[in-house]
Amino acid sequence: MKKVFALVLALALVLGCFSFASADAKTYKVGVSIYQFTDNFMTLYRNEIENYFKSLETDDVKYEITMADGKNDMAEQTNQVQNFITQGMDVIILNLVQTSSADAVIDQIVAAGIPLVLINREPLAYDADGKTLDEAYEGILNNAQVCYVGADARQSGTFQGEMVAELENHGDINGDGKISYIMIEGDPENIDAQYRTEFSVKALTDAGYEVECLDDQVGNWDQTKGQELCANALTAYGDKIEVVFCNNDAMALGAATAILTAGRTVGKDIYLLGVDALEEAVQLVKDGEMTGTVLNDHIGQSHAAVDVAVKLLNGEPIENYYWVDYVKVNKAYVDAQ
Ligand code: BGC
Repeated sequence: MKKVFALVLALALVLGCFSFASADAKTYKVGVSIYQFTDNFMTLYRNEIENYFKSLETDDVKYEITMADGKNDMAEQTNQVQNFITQGMDVIILNLVQTSSADAVIDQIVAAGIPLVLINREPLAYDADGKTLDEAYEGILNNAQVCYVGADARQSGTFQGEMVAELENHGDINGDGKISYIMIEGDPENIDAQYRTEFSVKALTDAGYEVECLDDQVGNWDQTKGQELCANALTAYGDKIEVVFCNNDAMALGAATAILTAGRTVGKDIYLLGVDALEEAVQLVKDGEMTGTVLNDHIGQSHAAVDVAVKLLNGEPIENYYWVDYVKVNKAYVDAQ
């Protein structure tokens, strides 16, 4: 019995030593501000940021993450950033509410000497000529430790258009020689919305198809709004609508409900496209209730954002831009998975 007791005591000492060692661990303070917690896609993204940071922890390195909800309010988010600065965050990950406010916010963070990883909402900066953030901000950054992690929204738009072009009738259900579509857009301030709107249609015209835009409305990435806009358009234009392009899946899920309610059938008398590859949307593609979606790789993007944040914490050199590819998700793709 004594022996058992001694053994337990020895074990407790050893464990005590270990926990003493980890009490000595370096804890990095990470401030993350997300433009809006209720956004379906950004919910997956932010959860993965936390999970992935946790998975990288060791006995010696810990990450203390403060996750803030920007509530789609730039003033609220500016406040959060100021709190992050006061709290002495070691790195900040920022999903801007308004990309047009980027320089003001970036300026404050850079002035405080805190490295910054911008995600998902690309500040106006980048263009096809491949500017660096420094060039785009005309030297405000002075080679500061700032970068953007995202996906090139032109690619997602192109994939949406290609999925229509690849259909047997190329989206021209009534055979009148043109593809008649409606567009349901995300927040127009977001470059993702602008590019997806432009490039989905461009993929069709580039391939030589004639298109006709029946309706183009802003659904602000929101499912309820997407349903409402699609229902209105179906009432106004009826059978004329051959293709419904939605800038994201949340709005496409809403549109899918409106299409069902209107007694229309995806794949037969109408086509429906989204972006993100949310689980519910992939299921609809599998069931034939959506024509296709595009994987907006939240895992790849969140991991890239965390990996570069860790590099910044370690004082390693970084790039200005990190791009993660989109993937076309149509029925053939889902069935092959
Ligand atoms: C996603 C949308 C999301 C938006 C938030 C986009 O990349 O496709 O679903 O609402 O980011 O900024």
